[in-house]
Amino acid sequence: MSNREGTPKFPDSYIGDKSIEYDNSTWMERNQKKTTLLCLQYLTDDKLDNLGNYNVLDRNHYIIVDLGCGSGFSSEILVGSGHRVIGIDILIDMLSKAKTKKKSQKIKKI
Ligand SMILES: C[S@@+](CC[C@H](N)C(=O)[O-])C[C@H]1O[C@@H](n2cnc3c(N)ncnc32)[C@H](O)[C@@H]1O
Repeated sequence: MSNREGTPKFPDSYIGDKSIEYDNSTWMERNQKKTTLLCLQYLTDDKLDNLGNYNVLDRNHYIIVDLGCGSGFSSEILVGSGHRVIGIDILIDMLSKAKTKKKSQKIKKI
């Protein structure tokens, strides 16, 4: 799977062999992890304090629900950044790969 093959389609791009292809794609891994890092930057952006009283929270230890966690690339980054993560996905083929990462301690159990 590469960026030349176009945008993945739900659910076909995430089932069976396609889920393996997704999980083995270095381009997809890089893309998901880069996006997740950007999200984390927004989450801890000081300017967001203008929108609410976020400064009372411990920014280093959120519990984050990774909805549509796929094979767990984003969860790896979130856990690696010190957050506790609950990964949810509607497709077992994808979720099972995230579970494997959790077991291999790439994603720690919470
Ligand atoms: C781009 S992929 C995974 C992205 C993820 N950030 C990663 O690191 O791999 C999107 C995922 O969203 C899941 N998804 C789509 N609709 C969903 C829904 N309604 N509920 C739960 N998961 C959903 C798909 O099964 C797919 O695994």
